[in-house]
Amino acid sequence: MKGDIADAALVKGLLARCDAVVNFAAESHVDRSILDSTECFETNVRGTLVLLEAARQAKVARFLHVSTDEVYGDMAPDKWAVETSPLHPSSPYAASKASAEMLVMAYQHTYGVPAVITRASNNYGPYQFPEKFMPLMIANALDRKPLPVYGDGRQERDWIHVEDHCRAIDLVLRGGRTGEVYNIGYGEPRANLDVLHTLLELLDRPASLIQYVTDRPGHDRRYALRSDKITRELGWRPEHSFEDGLRSTAAWYQSHGEWIARVRGGEYREYYERHYQRRDETLSGVGKP
Ligand code: DAU
Repeated sequence: MKGDIADAALVKGLLARCDAVVNFAAESHVDRSILDSTECFETNVRGTLVLLEAARQAKVARFLHVSTDEVYGDMAPDKWAVETSPLHPSSPYAASKASAEMLVMAYQHTYGVPAVITRASNNYGPYQFPEKFMPLMIANALDRKPLPVYGDGRQERDWIHVEDHCRAIDLVLRGGRTGEVYNIGYGEPRANLDVLHTLLELLDRPASLIQYVTDRPGHDRRYALRSDKITRELGWRPEHSFEDGLRSTAAWYQSHGEWIARVRGGEYREYYERHYQRRDETLSGVGKP
């Protein structure tokens, strides 16, 4: 036995008594994938292959693969992605997630692994690691540190509360049709700057904290998802309005200063330094000329 198959044999033992596999595991940060794509490939592609092979061998009854709207790539201002839209991943992260999806589909088609895929938009909520936009901006604003906005800040994302995402995953796990894909989005793309101004109001901090920094290489301008399929088939709808979700999220970070301090130590500090304080130098080594 070689490499991935040997790893799968090990994982198979762990899956023997599992009813289902829900593959949340991923290197999930686009910026990190731009600095170094290898870990992204290892975890998101090879890791998925190992899990699929183990699930096949252990004859697991359900395999739900958690994917992302980033597989659709940049959406023009008037366009919305539905499950049958073509995949045009832009970043190494997005490409790794699209690749993993191809493997999931191949295992479903070839070996009958009972797999289903979900594609969600940007999550926010408690306990999110502050490398992501929402917790990074909240944590910096609380400390009155600069808020690093990439490019012109007019890029649009469709924010969904993590609890709504998890409820959708639970519904798809129980009732989604094998071999199908389900989009999970809030349905209202918003510009980063607009989100940031709302956050600043909630946190009572001045807009002067905003600092425009060099854009992310290959930055997608807009993600926009239609989630009619999961609503129609499984009755899912987001329950957290964006306004209430943002308010409770800001309040959560305000009352969890110790947690923020703990996760911002160690490796994060080094990443922050490299990615933000030495941004131009770091990006000049990896970005487009
Ligand atoms: O769309 C779903 C995806 O959302 C998930 O698949 C990814 O795992 C997740 O990381 C997220 O990807 P994004 O690249 O959209 O999320 P991020 O929080 O990194 O950035 C959100 C937007 O904010 C994006 O347009 C880049 C911008 N941004 C981000 C950071 C971290 C800034 O302007 N400044 C920042 O410091």
